[in-house]
Amino acid sequence: MEKPIGVFDSGLGGVSVLREAIRILPHEDFIYYGDNRNAPYGDRTEQEITKLTMHCAHALARCGAKAILIACNTATATCIEQIRSDLNIPVVSVEPAIKPACMQPGNGKILMMATQATTHLKRYLALQARMPNPARVINVPCPGLVERIERGIFAEDAFDDLLDQYLSAYHTMQIDGIVLGCTHYIFIRDAIKRYAAMHLHGTCTLFDGNAATVYQLKRVLEAQRLLNVGTASGNITFHTSGDPAQYAPLFELLLHRP
Ligand code: DGL
Repeated sequence: MEKPIGVFDSGLGGVSVLREAIRILPHEDFIYYGDNRNAPYGDRTEQEITKLTMHCAHALARCGAKAILIACNTATATCIEQIRSDLNIPVVSVEPAIKPACMQPGNGKILMMATQATTHLKRYLALQARMPNPARVINVPCPGLVERIERGIFAEDAFDDLLDQYLSAYHTMQIDGIVLGCTHYIFIRDAIKRYAAMHLHGTCTLFDGNAATVYQLKRVLEAQRLLNVGTASGNITFHTSGDPAQYAPLFELLLHRP
């Protein structure tokens, strides 16, 4: 089917999911919508996040998207049910990858780093409660990281102050895994890895839900006979509620960053 897949995030974080989507679904076209003007969502109320997300999801549907990929953990935790019930196209969304993290052997803790909103929302807490040992997961809200990433800051040593603020309480614990529960954080994996190597104990294996989400999207498209097969395609369009002169170059940079 020739129609594009709509990809949504509050800002640029969803580009990390889009990159996986391009790799796994090379014959699809994508329209990306970043609500950069209103990011970060993670410090907003549930009502605000719902209103903003619904507005963007409807805009993507009006652009002719055949399916929507919610590339924002915060939006998923806030209002995924409402998006699904409002739109009559398939909607697939990313969630913090605590399940694979909890499947690791051992008794060390799993740090789940995410936005303030995600760590408090019912849907995420219900996911945590379904883990075999929910207490193994420590939720770490990390306000401030997204703002910096939205400004185009990715350097390995540019986040030590904030990481210290949020992670210093866990310096003495055994940490088996760190879940990147916000799609923006994928772009600062190196900063998080570096901090973990310097200050934390344990393997600190990093987890994210991006590839699993895209494989789920692929299954849904296949089941609904919406998957493009064979014909070369791969057009990518970027839309932002912010200033395109500011965000389009960052979008391109992140899309092609190794
Ligand atoms: N990238 C988003 C997420 O995965 C949200 C970031 C934000 O706007 O706070 O949660």
